[in-house]
This record gives sequence, C-alpha cells and structure tokens, in this order.
Amino acid sequence: MTANIIDGKKIAQGIRDKLKAAAAELTVKPGLAVVLVGADPASRTYVHSKEKACQEIGFYSEVHRLPETVSEAELLALVSKLNKDSRIHGVLVQLPLPAHIRTDKIILAIDPAKDVDCFHPLNTGALFSGLTSGILPCTPAGCLELIKSTGLALSGKKAAVVGRSNIVGKPAALLLLHHDCTVTLCHSRTADLAAELQQADIVIAAAGRAGLITGAMLKPGAVVIDVGTNRVNGRLTGDVDFASAVQTAGFITPVPGGVGPLTIAMLMQNTLNVCRQKL
Ligand code: GUN
Repeated sequence: MTANIIDGKKIAQGIRDKLKAAAAELTVKPGLAVVLVGADPASRTYVHSKEKACQEIGFYSEVHRLPETVSEAELLALVSKLNKDSRIHGVLVQLPLPAHIRTDKIILAIDPAKDVDCFHPLNTGALFSGLTSGILPCTPAGCLELIKSTGLALSGKKAAVVGRSNIVGKPAALLLLHHDCTVTLCHSRTADLAAELQQADIVIAAAGRAGLITGAMLKPGAVVIDVGTNRVNGRLTGDVDFASAVQTAGFITPVPGGVGPLTIAMLMQNTLNVCRQKL
C-alpha cells in the first residue's frame, strides 16, 4: 500500500480562511512588514508569497526591498523604525542576509513582541521553557499542523527530527517534546541514521540534503514531513526520496505543496496573535 499524501496547500487554505474571518472581526488590520535584502531568487519568491497571503486575508503589508549593498546601520535603522510603527504588528527580515551584515545583530534588534519569525532569543527562550507567547516558530508549527491533520495522537510517539538548525530542527524537536513525543534529534554526524529512523513513528526531515532519506530507512506507516527545499537541476526537491518513501510511509508531504504553504499560514497566525494581544 502506498502512503496517503498530505495536501499542505489545502490545509493552509483552511487556516487562511479562518484567519481571514478572524481578522474581519478586529477593529484594526493586522500588519506585517517584510524586509528583503538583495535579489536571491528563492527569497524573492518567499517574500512574494507572504505579501500575497496578506492581501488574500485582509492584512496590511509592507515589503521593503533593499539593495545587496545596504549597510548594517541602514538595515538596523529600518528595523528600529518598523518596531515603532503602530500599523505594524510583525517585523520579518528575510534570511539569508549578505555576508557583510551580522544576522544575529539584526535578529536582536527586532522588537521581541513583533518577532513573528520567533527568531529572537527571548522568544526561542520562551519556547525552550514551554511558555506560550502567542508566537510560534513558523515552519515547526506548520509541521505540527500537518502531523495533526493525519489524526495521529502524538502523545507517547517516537519522533525523529533530522537536522539541527535554529530555524527548523531545534525548535521542531522542542514542539514535539511539548506534545509528549519521545524525540531524537539527528544530524549530519549521527552514526546510523537508518537505525534511528527505523524506530520513528514521526519523521521531520530538515537536513537540507536532497534525497537523504529513503523508504528503506523508514518504519512502515510512519508520518513523514519533508521540510527540504533543495534545487536539483532547477527542480525543487525534498530531503526525502519521495518515490521510495511513498511505498513505506503511512502519510507523507510532497515538495512542493507540503510544508511551504503552512510556514506562511503560521506566519499569518503569529501576526494576528500579536495584533490581538495589542488590542
Ligand atoms: N529564510 C528561509 N526561511 C525563512 C523564514 O522562515 N524566515 C525568514 N525570515 N527567513 C527565512
């Protein structure tokens, strides 16, 4: 039997519909400011999708496009301005930034109350401590929505996260832990990845290596969430070898059309939550 394919586009649309209805009830529009530095094609696409989502659900949005040559001081000045702008509830600086700009310094400059990416140490620290601030890390929260859509009860399940980035792997492991999963955080130095995955009822693949995870490595019936966005011969490819994994998994997300739409839906959810908290 082949796996059920989790339709990320449809699930995200359902969330956006609810956010649109919720936003219409508010006396002010939730506002999102996105800052894009340079012309990286992938970043441009992501920023465009964020702008489009805001338009669809009736949020106010601003996109600030800055040249690759912008100085760190100029970028800090813009972030400071957006922090103070009462129309703006969420401030997002698209990563990666050019090498001459210190990413940590920019993240630290974003008002933690407007940090809808959940990148600021105050928010990641709150997440670590299990405190609920109304802001969740977008991609990990999107992965959780996709897992929940299968109807699987998470409590007591074994979950393997592959990849230990600050944006996905580490926060995804924490969210699964908060949902009472037994979590293994695998990475490039894990001695026997297949042995770890064989045990896992849930797999979140976020290593950034095309086709790293094959069907033979998975536990039959596993829920497999593929966060990978690798370009192979111009095509977007996940970290999971879909053709073989679909033969073993119980549920699997496609790339594209799996996690990506959920990341944006969760960003909108965070922006609405910040706006609500302010009202
Ligand atoms: N670059 C890749 N993913 C993300 C994200 O979720 N947020 C930001 N700001 N930049 C990214």
